[in-house]
Amino acid sequence: MEQATQNRPLTAYDRLGGQPVVRRIVDRFYDLMEADPAYAELRAMHAPDLTPMRASLTGFLTAWLGGPRDWFEERPGLCMMSAHRGVTMTEPTARQWADAMTRAVQDAEADPELAAKMAEALAGMALNMGGVGR
Ligand code: HEM
Repeated sequence: MEQATQNRPLTAYDRLGGQPVVRRIVDRFYDLMEADPAYAELRAMHAPDLTPMRASLTGFLTAWLGGPRDWFEERPGLCMMSAHRGVTMTEPTARQWADAMTRAVQDAEADPELAAKMAEALAGMALNMGGVGR
């Protein structure tokens, strides 16, 4: 996954390790959410079966990192805010999301600099969505 094609610069998705690494991060994120009581409130907001979420978040992060954009093409006009219409984000649940994602990214054993940037950006997104720091 380290190779750029002739016409395309290396994306964060490539540098991270592509699909297997994104999937590993997402699986770890939902495994943590299911197993760690610290995330019980966040877990309770989600449907009992997390299989569709594992696929959707993998697709979103793939596009967000500069990889294939299927997630957006399959959901014309959807954005992160509209994907959460009807979801009441609170400061505690935003913090739980940010914390579980930070751990999941750290556990992926990807390039440490890239992993740190990714965890920071995603945690920041979640905290913003939860109104933390406003
Ligand atoms: C602020 C904290 C957050 C909370 C409490 C939260 C909660 C939720 C909930 C309850 C759902 C619906 C789940 C279901 O139907 O089972 C959802 C969907 C989703 N969330 Fe979040 N979320 C948060 C932040 C984020 C962030 C930061 C991202 C991306 C970086 C994200 C990506 C997604 C995606 C891709 C979906 C599925 C959309 C779809 O396929 O329709 N979420 N979220």
